[in-house]
Amino acid sequence: MSSNSTTQTVLPARTVRGSVRLPGDKSISHRYAMLAGLAKGTSRLANFSTGADPHSSLACMEALGATVVKRDDGVIEVTGVGGTFQQPTRDLDCGNSGSTMRMLAGLVASHPGTYTFVGDASLTKRPMQRIKGPLEQMGARIELIDGHAPMVVHGGPLKAIEFSTPIASAQVKTAVLFAGLGAEGTTTLQEAVRTRDHSEHALRAFGAELERGRDSISIRGGQSLTAIEATVPGDLSSAAFFLCAALLFPDSQLVLDDVGMNPSRSTLLDVLTGMGLKITVLNLEEKHGEMIGTLQVNGAEVLKGAEITGTLPALIIDELPVLAAIAPFTRDGVTIRDAKELRVKESDRIALVVQNLRAMGAEVEEFEDGMHVPGGQTLRGGVVDSADDHRIAMAFAVAALRAEGETTIHGAEAAAISFPEFFTLLNEIAAR
Ligand code: S3P
Repeated sequence: MSSNSTTQTVLPARTVRGSVRLPGDKSISHRYAMLAGLAKGTSRLANFSTGADPHSSLACMEALGATVVKRDDGVIEVTGVGGTFQQPTRDLDCGNSGSTMRMLAGLVASHPGTYTFVGDASLTKRPMQRIKGPLEQMGARIELIDGHAPMVVHGGPLKAIEFSTPIASAQVKTAVLFAGLGAEGTTTLQEAVRTRDHSEHALRAFGAELERGRDSISIRGGQSLTAIEATVPGDLSSAAFFLCAALLFPDSQLVLDDVGMNPSRSTLLDVLTGMGLKITVLNLEEKHGEMIGTLQVNGAEVLKGAEITGTLPALIIDELPVLAAIAPFTRDGVTIRDAKELRVKESDRIALVVQNLRAMGAEVEEFEDGMHVPGGQTLRGGVVDSADDHRIAMAFAVAALRAEGETTIHGAEAAAISFPEFFTLLNEIAAR
């Protein structure tokens, strides 16, 4: 049972209908917060994520000397330190946010000083060795306890490296690029799977030059950043919950305005289309390298299954819990393999999805690197536990829309980590 149990009861729905505007993308908000905090000048960030995680990044940037003003109109103003961080007088508290801890470690690594990163119980269990390796190769020194936070980064002069990421992780890539920004020489990075490229776009938006090779990305050290004015696109990973809700009902109709459509994230739309969702993209435009569009969505005549294996899981890693949660309602079932990373997210998302599907009466087979959920099943309302993981709370709230009877979600407040408005908006679109 989650430690901090706010429960939410979700009733079955007849369909979902309506129009939703999503709060700003979590991944982009983190990067803008961090780079604005280092840059020269005042950045103005509209539609910044309302989730607790990017606000942990903002608080850390304040501890490093940036000034953050949350305006009444929702715009966040960040006045950066102009290239030199202050030595923080308190721990850098990353809360639940792996992105804050890993990416910011890279950003501070080239700044002389000692930075202590702490996090909540979940974050303290997550692997940090993956950033210690490359950052120490560049010349920083990092203390961990058994591979985990609390993490102390001893920053100082860094040397550029050539690095191949052994695991598909945009956070590790970002830690290396951010460290490379302050290193001597040109840092080059190769990825086995091309992960989300928000850091590359954000660095360019703040004025840094990056070079893309055939399968590598390089950043020259010693470049300075300048403040930007930006509107953060709506979060596609938050939209995923409503897109999956729309998949559950043949007559569903949703419009999702101003959603981030970065190609390194939008593979999700191909998967959902393959499962039968009808998606039309309108008003596509580009801002600071990020694509934004409006999604017009209609339900599937036949809700087909999906095989999510090979390099695919890395591209939709945050959406796998909700795809698995709705899998019983598909015709053909959903198979997820090659997704071991799911076990080291905010929770062990393989174990927890399996546990909660079983709590709702579904048959499911668990693998070390994924699961198989047969199709053609029904779910009965039951009691599910988020274990304080935001995406688990939201995934099962969506599945509950088609369950028989009501579903109680323990630890529902975890949704606020990325999407505080989730339950309110879900209620608005659910026709009962
Ligand atoms: C993120 C990358 C992914 C993702 C996380 C956000 C990012 O993590 O799961 O929610 O913003 O770069 P990994 O880099 O660990 O795969």
